[in-house]
Amino acid sequence: MLKFSRNIFIALLVLFLVLTLVACGNKQEGEKKSEPIVIKFSHVVAETTPKGQAALKFKELAEQKTGGKVKVEVYPSSQLFGDKEELEALIANNVQFIAPSVTKLVGLNPQFQIVDIPFLFKSEEAALKFYQGPEGQKLLKSLEDKGIIGLAWWPNGAKHFTNSKRPLRRPEDFKGLKFRTQSGGVLEEQFKLLGAGSQTIPFGEVYTALQNKTVDGQENTFNNIDTQKYAEVQKYLTVSGHGRLDYVVLTNKTFWDSLPEDIKKALEEALAEATEYEIKLSTELNQKSMENLKKSGKLEFYYLTPQDREAFIKVFEPLYKKYEPIIGKEIMDAARNAE
Ligand code: LMR
Repeated sequence: MLKFSRNIFIALLVLFLVLTLVACGNKQEGEKKSEPIVIKFSHVVAETTPKGQAALKFKELAEQKTGGKVKVEVYPSSQLFGDKEELEALIANNVQFIAPSVTKLVGLNPQFQIVDIPFLFKSEEAALKFYQGPEGQKLLKSLEDKGIIGLAWWPNGAKHFTNSKRPLRRPEDFKGLKFRTQSGGVLEEQFKLLGAGSQTIPFGEVYTALQNKTVDGQENTFNNIDTQKYAEVQKYLTVSGHGRLDYVVLTNKTFWDSLPEDIKKALEEALAEATEYEIKLSTELNQKSMENLKKSGKLEFYYLTPQDREAFIKVFEPLYKKYEPIIGKEIMDAARNAE
């Protein structure tokens, strides 16, 4: 009898333990389900830039609009991934959002080099119109077969030349100098036609390359020149506005497709608002940076005259011819004719 009661006791104890374990398992499962979806957003520039600020605005809005169901972690200044790694990391879903410079997508689709064709866009507004128009939207969607979704254009501004050797006023002034480029054939060719050399260098290494004289110069927006402190290692700035440095916000397709519809909608709304903010901010911050650079007195400014501009356009003629079939006439015409 005693033995029988003991067996019942042990059986009840085992049952109790099993039920407790199952309950704990369910609880953990429940806790897991309520954990937020984490979006890692990596970029290479400073937090004080249009891209840096817009990424933070997206974080604020995305977390607010999803009621905390999404958590956005923003990693600026190549902290998580630099130029070379961020695209691969996105494809591998090790990061869910990036906003690279359009030029850096040349390996995936050479048509993105439209931003690098010198003196093509008439103005800031023209670039924005192109991105919002049918050709811009087609280009934005062109990476889906690579597992990448283009969510938004973040126009950022025109590029200008800086260098440490001499004022660059006319095409012949570039002879024998070496410039840092972001990537791609158009930029390499642009410098070749000017009689200059070039080297692709990741953004995070440009300051040191200028300081060590690995290269004599580079091309960038006023805001990047200012926030990266290039004036400390450069002497001359040519206000040329010869090409664009704009961004495209990208996400991993598998990640995006896995999101519930309400979350996707909230993120799209957050991104649309962050995009408006970025567009406004890029104009403001570039203007402010231009004033800072002038005030600092460290850089000698030269503004291209209409005649200088014509001289450059003439030198670049072979480039326009070579790249029209690569980029596509419709895209080139849409960019050229946008107002
Ligand atoms: C550069 O490499 O110069 C730029 O693309 C950096 C950036 O993201 O603005």
